[in-house]
Amino acid sequence: MPVDFYSKLTNARGVYTFRDFVLVPGRSDVEPSKVDLSINLTKQIHLNLPLVSSPMDTVTESDMAIALAREGGLGIIHRNMPIEEQVENAKRVKRAESFIIRDVVTITPDQKISDALELMHNKSISGLPVVSDGDRIVGILTKRDVNFADPNVSVREAMTSEVIVAGPEVTIEEAKKIMNKRKVEKLPVVDKNRKLMGLITIKDVYSRERFPLATRDSQGRLLVGAAVSPYDIERAKALEKHVDLLVSDVAHFHNTNILEAAKKLTNEVFVEFIAGNLGTIEGTKDTIEALDGHVAGIRAGVGSGSICVTSEVTKAGAPTLFAVSQIAVALQELGVEIPIIADGGIRAAGDGALALAAGASAIMMGNVFAGCTESPGGLIKIGGKYYKPYRGMGSMASRQKRFAMDRYNQPAKGIAEGVEGVVPYRGDVSTVVEEFASGLRASFGYAGATSVKDLWQKAKFGAVTAAGVDEMRPHSIILPGEEKI
Ligand code: XMP
Repeated sequence: MPVDFYSKLTNARGVYTFRDFVLVPGRSDVEPSKVDLSINLTKQIHLNLPLVSSPMDTVTESDMAIALAREGGLGIIHRNMPIEEQVENAKRVKRAESFIIRDVVTITPDQKISDALELMHNKSISGLPVVSDGDRIVGILTKRDVNFADPNVSVREAMTSEVIVAGPEVTIEEAKKIMNKRKVEKLPVVDKNRKLMGLITIKDVYSRERFPLATRDSQGRLLVGAAVSPYDIERAKALEKHVDLLVSDVAHFHNTNILEAAKKLTNEVFVEFIAGNLGTIEGTKDTIEALDGHVAGIRAGVGSGSICVTSEVTKAGAPTLFAVSQIAVALQELGVEIPIIADGGIRAAGDGALALAAGASAIMMGNVFAGCTESPGGLIKIGGKYYKPYRGMGSMASRQKRFAMDRYNQPAKGIAEGVEGVVPYRGDVSTVVEEFASGLRASFGYAGATSVKDLWQKAKFGAVTAAGVDEMRPHSIILPGEEKI
């Protein structure tokens, strides 16, 4: 059959971007403060805020993941490092806080104070339960006990023998009461034979109060995700026990080899898997079919990231807003409910609101989070202002690092698909999250929606003309710092 080349142009689908639309204000009786921004990121993971940080080497390592999970979002540790280092990053997030620490570092009564000091220093801890006869607690050694003790005496001589303990069923409120009343900072948890089962610290108890929206697992530990290549089963297996979900990290998931690799991976690894990136109805349907029930979420968007040159170089792309709507349509046609994560091109809360309105459950951001204190890399001062480094994972610098250590990622394409540069420093994650959450709440208020699912129903999109793009930003005014322009 002859190819109808002309209709390829005339029948082209509109691939819309964030700048093409506004949310048309709707009748509202919703106060922004009453908006519920909590969402399901996957079948099992619930977030209090729909914010996820990109797995990029200038965005998410353990510090970012800890800070974001504490605020109610989730960080995805990047994979541009050896497997052990990525696992260690995930472990650091898990260790950052927990209601009951299970892998407690202990000491025995016959060891020396010098051993205790070394342990405390190496593990960065301030107290050691003292155990003997198969983990039975016989004392506790705190910083106070060791500070004035002779390093050569035994632990037995310096430890506090009268230990305040709690039973395995203790609740957080009970633990707090006991610790306040008895003025102790560490509360060992023991069974009826005084066998040590865990340790509660006052720091963790207060942390739960300080971060009420935090994303936690059943043990009170922060949730964390990690990025993997679908080909890298070795990495996925190493991460499996230390993360709450794995996130596929390929630009074009709708590829026969990748679908096959991801199928194999999801059959061998038993932790939730987010597929992506995808951007079309066909890609979504093929993915759902190939992965047969193993898709916990979908990363949407190809070529819209602020550091992307994919579309410029290859002219291939599925802008994030378009990608979200296509995937949402496909899932609806298939009759399955799988959360969509809008990934790339989100500059401000309004873009996030549009992505959610188009059918996404969460938004993933690289650029915005790269500017935070907790992203990897130090501050850079240029002309009196502060910046942080930010680069695409397809940039030459980033790819060179990955190729040195990731045998699954061969430099198939000699050209870079990302750029590197700097982004303005924005302050701590908590400030940025607060700004985004307030912005999202305000958008929901305009749309009259109380939750993301309500927004899906109520949001009405307005198409913006090229003239409108200019009018909808501050104009006809000289802003501070722009006086010379
Ligand atoms: P933002 O707009 O937040 O987008 O900076 C972050 C997302 O961009 C994707 N990403 C890339 N895309 N070349 C690309 O085409 C790259 O080098 C690159 N690095 C990251 C990724 O989906 C990320 O979450």
